[in-house]
Parts: sequence; C-alpha cells; structure tokens
Amino acid sequence: MKFIVTGGAGFIGSHIVDGLINRGYQVYVVDNLSTGRRQNINPSAVFTEPFDASQTPDKWLDEDTIAIHCASQPKCNVSLYAPVNDMENNYAVGVRFVTKCVSRKIKRLVLISSMSVYGDQPKSPYTEDMKPAPKDPYGIHKYALEQMCKVLCQNHGVEHLVLRPQHVFGVRQRYDLSYRNVIPRWIKKAILGQPLPVFGNLNLKRAFSPVSLIQRSIISAALDKKLDGETFNLGSSRTRSLADVAEKIARVLGIKINFELLPSPSTLLNLSVGSTEKVQRILNIAESEIEFDANLSALAREIKSATLSDAEIGIVPEIAPQTYISIYGT
Ligand SMILES: NC(=O)c1ccc[n+]([C@@H]2O[C@H](COP(=O)([O-])OP(=O)(O)OC[C@H]3O[C@@H](n4cnc5c(N)ncnc54)[C@H](O)[C@@H]3O)[C@@H](O)[C@H]2O)c1
Repeated sequence: MKFIVTGGAGFIGSHIVDGLINRGYQVYVVDNLSTGRRQNINPSAVFTEPFDASQTPDKWLDEDTIAIHCASQPKCNVSLYAPVNDMENNYAVGVRFVTKCVSRKIKRLVLISSMSVYGDQPKSPYTEDMKPAPKDPYGIHKYALEQMCKVLCQNHGVEHLVLRPQHVFGVRQRYDLSYRNVIPRWIKKAILGQPLPVFGNLNLKRAFSPVSLIQRSIISAALDKKLDGETFNLGSSRTRSLADVAEKIARVLGIKINFELLPSPSTLLNLSVGSTEKVQRILNIAESEIEFDANLSALAREIKSATLSDAEIGIVPEIAPQTYISIYGT
C-alpha cells in the first residue's frame, strides 16, 4: 500500500508525511509550494517537482493507493474578498483531484476539510450530525468539496472519509502569513517585543489543537477500513481562551506581553468548537496531558532559532483583507 499526500510540503501535510514514513509506508508528495516549503518535505518521500494537485500523475494513483487531500489555500478571512480565487484553489482543484482518484479506482480517499463548514451553530460543541452553515466562501467551498467527494466516491465505489481538524498549531507552522495561524504569529510578535493583535476579544475560546494529535488522528483514520463514508471532527477536547494562550506564550518565552485590540471581522465565529467525542469513542485518540505545552514550546524554540531573516522567508506586511481583491480579482 502507498500514500499520496497533497499539500505534503505544508504544515499539517508534512507532519502526516513524516508519520506515514515512520510507520514504513511509501509516500508521494504533491505540492505546488504556494505556501508550503521544500525543506518541510521528508527526504524519504517521493517529490519530483512542484505542481498542482489537479496535475497528479495517473501512474501515482492505483488500487493500492490511499490519497490524503490536504492541499488548500487556507485563508478563510481573505476568501470573503477573493471568492473566485478561493473557489478555484479549494473547490475546483479538489474536484479535479477527486475525479482523478475515482477514475483510477484508488483504495481510499481522505479529505481534509475544516471546522469552518459549521459556521455559527446554536449549540456548542459542534457535532458531526449538525447541518453545516458556513459563513465565508472558504467554508462554503470546503463543504461543497465534502459533498462532491461523497457523491463521486459512493458512485464510483471508492472508500472515503472526511476529517475536520480545528485550530491546529505546532512546528513548521508559518508565522509570516497575514490573517491566519494566531499562535505562531503571536509568538513571533512577542519575541519582537510587539503587541499581540487581537481580533474581537481575549475571552474568545477555541479548541487549539497540537499538530502531533492531529497527525495521529489523521493517520489512524486513514488506515481504518471500517470508516468508509464517515465524517469526524479532529482536535483537542479542551477549549482555551486567547487570554490562556497568551499567558502560556508569555510563560514559555519568559517575557511580558501587551495586546493591540482590533475590530472583530464580520466572519469571526463566536463559538467554533468541535466535539471530539466521536473520534475519541471510535478511534480512541485523545490529547495527552503534556501535548499542548510540548507543541507550544517546540514551536517557540523553532521560531526563536530561525536562522533565515524575515525578508528571506518572505514575511508579508499586514494588509487589509480587502486588498486581496486587487491582487486576485474577485
Ligand atoms: N491549520 C489549521 O488550523 C487547519 C484547521 C482546519 C483545517 N485545515 C486544513 O488542513 C489543510 C492543511 O492546512 P495547513 O494549515 O497545513 O496549511 P498550509 O498552507 O501549511 O498547507 C497547504 C499546502 O497545500 C499546498 N497547496 C495549496 N494549493 C495547492 C494546489 N492547488 N496544489 C498543490 N498544492 C497546493 C501549499 O503549498 C501548502 O504546502 C488544509 O486543507 C486546511 O484547510 C487546517
């Protein structure tokens, strides 16, 4: 059996690739390196050159292949201002990739979706049986791809499952991209002695989830042949406020922290916490006591010791999401 991981040079994808290689599997990485980095790719994986997931070579897909589709443009706030760009990257590319997988009759397709499909629900935590009500184009396209994946896989006889991670953090996560990845961005800002930007308020709670937990969950689910057609939320069963996270960052770095309060974007979700009861019950996977702190400390060490300058790694200035219309068109 072999694996294809799209987005395997990115944050979550590269951890999936490492976990599979550590378990002895052959892994092919597909990535266009738009936000991923070549140095994230495990040297034991097959990576030929950067290309789009829709261009995955047919010869990499056969009845012994499990494909994990993790590639996406994950800036949900920006998607409101560049919906067509988001649709092309997150929906159209996904549909082309799924079509390839079903026409080659692969063994199993695992779609990495997102908690954003739920939008704001009347009750928290969100369970997998709730009707999605996405609040931004990113969530709409993720949900549409979930549906497309189910329909195509069911009708073409390919096993499939949908996984919805939530608020993941850990090493290799980029701090230099606007409007995403609050934990690494805050760590970098704190190291630079700058105030931490807060959209909304510090009491906002999320189930911030260590990437090591997400890696274990995705690999266990991908290897389990009994889960055909299932959908799972993934992540920590513990919610933490932004204030709790800031306090932990201050403790790890041993510095005092200040905040810059900014207006809350219209798409900000008040709750957005997914129940992990189903994944714990069926896959028996839960966060360990030390996992949050261990992942936070490792990420802080990585950001502190980064040898490349911000210019070299392409740090982008904070730009208003509206500006993306002029970059991508609508
Ligand atoms: N980070 C989170 O908290 C989180 C939460 C929920 C869901 N997700 C989902 O997990 C997946 C990975 O997110 P991430 O945080 O690792 O982001 P990331 O930007 O680090 O990884 C995405 C990867 O996909 C690649 N890519 C993008 N478009 C591509 C295309 N058309 N063809 C080939 N490669 C392409 C990028 O170069 C990058 O390597 C995404 O599907 C995202 O929606 C992430």
